[in-house]
Amino acid sequence: MKFNILIIDDEKNIREGLAAALEMDGYNVVLAADGESGLQLVGRGDIDLVITDLRMPGISGEEVLAKVTSESPGLPVIVLTGHGTIDSAVDAMRAGAYDFLTKPLNLDRLSLIVKRALQNRELSLQHRQLKEELDSNKSFESIIGKSAEMQKIFEMVRRVASSKASVLITGESGVGKELIANAVHNLSPRKDKPLIKVHCAALSESLLESELFGHEKGAFTGAVARKRGRFELAHEGSIFLDEIGEIDQNVQIKILRVLQDKRFERVGGEETVETDVRVIAATNRDLEKEIAEGRFREDLYYRLNVVHIHVPPLRERKDDIPLMVSAFLKEFAKENGKNITSIDSHARAALYKYDWPGNIRQLRNCMESAVVMCAGDTLTLDDFPPTISQHNAQDVVQIPAGLTLDAAEKIYINETLAANRGNKSKTADVLAIGRKTLHRKLAEEGETLDADTED
Ligand SMILES: Nc1ncnc2c1ncn2[C@@H]1O[C@H](COP(=O)(O)OP(=O)(O)OP(=O)(O)O)[C@@H](O)[C@H]1O
Ligand SMILES: [Mg+2]
Repeated sequence: MKFNILIIDDEKNIREGLAAALEMDGYNVVLAADGESGLQLVGRGDIDLVITDLRMPGISGEEVLAKVTSESPGLPVIVLTGHGTIDSAVDAMRAGAYDFLTKPLNLDRLSLIVKRALQNRELSLQHRQLKEELDSNKSFESIIGKSAEMQKIFEMVRRVASSKASVLITGESGVGKELIANAVHNLSPRKDKPLIKVHCAALSESLLESELFGHEKGAFTGAVARKRGRFELAHEGSIFLDEIGEIDQNVQIKILRVLQDKRFERVGGEETVETDVRVIAATNRDLEKEIAEGRFREDLYYRLNVVHIHVPPLRERKDDIPLMVSAFLKEFAKENGKNITSIDSHARAALYKYDWPGNIRQLRNCMESAVVMCAGDTLTLDDFPPTISQHNAQDVVQIPAGLTLDAAEKIYINETLAANRGNKSKTADVLAIGRKTLHRKLAEEGETLDADTED
């Protein structure tokens, strides 16, 4: 791999002298005459090393260093300092610079430091990739789900993983779509190749296009070197297109073409790149509605939706809640060094009853904050945010004094039915009466409540 080195210096001679020396060592060199354009180049994401002068008009080298360390952690910065300004070099080292060079420059030393910085950089990238792989394996093992709904999904994942079929994962936010995507990849024959993830909603149209397909050097202002796109990086592996419902029509056409022809061109390029990728896409939108309203291409939908996995919201698989509560409690107690061993029955019941509009992500966050709040060895309702503890309070049925027993019964039955979202079997179970009895009682009062569907 050829490394890209960015040199920022307001003195033309220094820039070009450095460039010539580094190009001789076999690196790609990119030049910037001031801090601002330098930072813009860093923002494109394909720079491997920055060499910056400290004293420049406009944005100083110190500011460049601060920006790079905060926004591109792991990207090494070497600073250049003039004669007799060793203090500022020391400050720069403290602020996170990889090393410094004093002017006039010793080119042998330059060559050595650059080589070392890039070796380090490569190691840390490898390390990060390894860690990401480990994390995704861990999350596969940790998909919790003993509910019938989840068992069905596991079975489906197992069955489709070995094929190359595109998989579309749908479901509300926080239900675990990404975990399922990891599992599809990790159980597939492609598991030793990369799983490349693209968060489609986070990028503007043009950035997304160059992220996905890459670009040639000079394709647009700032395209300082050729960049490989995610479809190319995912070759022989899988690509996870998250939030696929958010991309616009232009990019939709291009993705369709990759799915159909398994080939594409980089932005600004003519060479055709062939790629063998398994596509996994996810969305929390209703794509059929998007199609009906003209926002999503139907042909792309059919290509993506070869296998469809719908992950139901947590409120429709409440059987999973107790297991998740225990697992998250253990995890966060350990992480926070707390010895919390149980959760009392009120809190347990409230967590079970709550509707979890934010699904598992919300439950997880909620357990984490409760563990942090908890002072003893047992989680209680007080440790949870009011949304959960008060929700429980709302479940108390208010029956005014002075009613007849019949009238009070009606209120109680209707409230219970509402708490069970109109599900009559569950309501009958809670009331410990037969379904027929419940039906008769509801019929007597003309079914005042919108009781639904299921029977
Ligand atoms: N079955 C599960 N067992 C354990 N943890 C889970 C499970 N499902 C989801 N989580 C956790 O909940 C969080 C949200 O999951 P994930 O990011 O996969 O959801 P998502 O459906 O992709 O959400 P979004 O649509 O918002 O991107 C993650 O921290 C994940 O680890
Ligand atoms: Mg997601």
